[in-house]
Amino acid sequence: MRLERLTPAHLDALEALEAAGQVHPWKRATLARALADDTLDVWGAWRDATLLGHAVLAWLPFEAELQAITVAPQVRRQGVAGILLAHLVTRARQRGAERLLLEVRESNAPALALYRRYGFDEDGRRRGYYSPAEARGGVREAAILMSRPLAVRAVD
Ligand SMILES: CC(C)(COP(=O)(O)OP(=O)(O)OC[C@H]1O[C@@H](n2cnc3c(N)ncnc32)[C@H](O)[C@@H]1OP(=O)(O)O)[C@@H](O)C(=O)NCCC(=O)NCCS
Repeated sequence: MRLERLTPAHLDALEALEAAGQVHPWKRATLARALADDTLDVWGAWRDATLLGHAVLAWLPFEAELQAITVAPQVRRQGVAGILLAHLVTRARQRGAERLLLEVRESNAPALALYRRYGFDEDGRRRGYYSPAEARGGVREAAILMSRPLAVRAVD
């Protein structure tokens, strides 16, 4: 598997992955804007010519925010998201970000398990933040806010 920064040339592959892998996929125009946006890093995990997963990192003044991570359904639980996350943690540290932030639907058990496994802790919740997931019968969902510190502790 190789990791590569995605560019506008990868829009078709990115759109197909989103459609296959997300219950609420980003629209093509949103993906195109993300690929052209200098304040975002969009990374892809590839096997040969197949895009297996992607992750979007936004640069904030002192922090970085994971805005999306999606892995193709047929290659889940094979470590693709973990590899992408580890890479983004390294990138964010290199840029001097102090924390990596994210928000996730409270019903998204796989993503919550992933983030906890990779050192994210819950900071709080925003009630009613997300539009209803179909499986949740029309009830708006809370966002769980999570973060992971990135600063390397100084040795005394
Ligand atoms: C969440 C998601 C990105 C995980 O991708 P993945 O490549 O399957 O994750 P990994 O294989 O790297 O998993 C790493 C660890 O996360 C946890 N994890 C991941 N998926 C899990 C699941 N379905 N159930 C329980 N734990 C899970 C496990 O601890 C796993 O380690 P293990 O397999 O050794 O037990 C993937 O399920 C996905 O694309 N979901 C749809 C999109 C989404 O919800 N994105 C996040 C919000 S935007």
